[in-house]
Amino acid sequence: QQNERDSLFIVLNYAKDYYKEILKNHDDGRSIGLSYFKERGFTDKTIDKFELGYSLDEWNAFSEIALKNAYSEDLLEKAGLLIKKDDKKYDRFRGRVIFPIHNVTGKVIAFGARTLKKDGKPKYLNSPETEVYHKSKILYGLFQAKQAIRQMDNCYLVEGYTDVISLHQSDIENVVASSGTSLTDDQIRLINRWTENITVLFDGDTAGLKAALRGVDMILEAGLNVRIVVFPAGEDPDSYSRKLGTSEFKKYLKENTRDLITFKAGLFAEEAVKDPLKKAESIKEIVGSIAKIPDPVKRAVYIKETSSLLGIDESVLLTELNKLLITGR
Ligand code: UTP
Ligand code: MN
Ligand code: MN
Ligand code: MN
Ligand code: MN
Repeated sequence: QQNERDSLFIVLNYAKDYYKEILKNHDDGRSIGLSYFKERGFTDKTIDKFELGYSLDEWNAFSEIALKNAYSEDLLEKAGLLIKKDDKKYDRFRGRVIFPIHNVTGKVIAFGARTLKKDGKPKYLNSPETEVYHKSKILYGLFQAKQAIRQMDNCYLVEGYTDVISLHQSDIENVVASSGTSLTDDQIRLINRWTENITVLFDGDTAGLKAALRGVDMILEAGLNVRIVVFPAGEDPDSYSRKLGTSEFKKYLKENTRDLITFKAGLFAEEAVKDPLKKAESIKEIVGSIAKIPDPVKRAVYIKETSSLLGIDESVLLTELNKLLITGR
């Protein structure tokens, strides 16, 4: 219903303005929220660009003001801002720094909210699915990135909110986050409106690089070109860009960007040398990825490349590829 959607956009925008105002002008907002962002190295410009905010550590600080301003309890609940449980009502976001999530036209549709406690759980509390927020169809930062993505003809894909923000501060604006979950087809199609090239930046803590690599095969399947960068253990794009500084970080990206298929081939080739029995497994894994690529010309190029990397006859790879193509992958 159009009316309800419009009301949701209005109250979400109101909430965003409220959290921003608290961050900048409320004593607690400044001493707790703002100083947290400053400690992370965020500048005022960055804070404004991403419309960051703070929610007070009280049960009803936001909803009290919102209700006074004639927003209905029902609307606040539908927007995911108010939780009603039994006879209790309380603000969803309390004592957390706020990351508004914008749709591609710049309207606020949801929030991610980070705890400031050392082991606070959950680390990030997010808006629930609502009439205007469908998590699987949204990429954090796309609104702020879309022009740069077109300009650079490439989109960096990271895990988290702060990775997006830190990259902007390092002068890299063509970046979006999947927000911790694996990429969906809708999200890939969204990126594809601006570019055919995705560079996935993996957290150094990524459990099982091989499994994570398999997870990006669906980007190949959608016909996009996939490159990857792996960070040192314990680092994510946010921490590592701050550690290296802008120019060293850019250099790191430049020198460590690998084509997905050839990276995989290299990874498996290394193992196959140590354990020849693994060679067959490697071939299947890599040809499996190549089979996902819709363009036959690109497939042919990769077969040739893989053949030389693994030291295996092209005909062997082609036989395996055709088998997969016929059985429908
Ligand atoms: P990470 O655990 O890598 O967090 O989760 P981060 O982005 O590096 O955050 P900092 O640096 O510790 O502040 C990656 C992303 O997964 C989602 C968030 O979008 C987060 O940015 N996530 C993570 C959640 O939604 N909830 C959680 O509890 C944790
Ligand atoms: Mn809907
Ligand atoms: Mn992580
Ligand atoms: Mn991280
Ligand atoms: Mn981080």
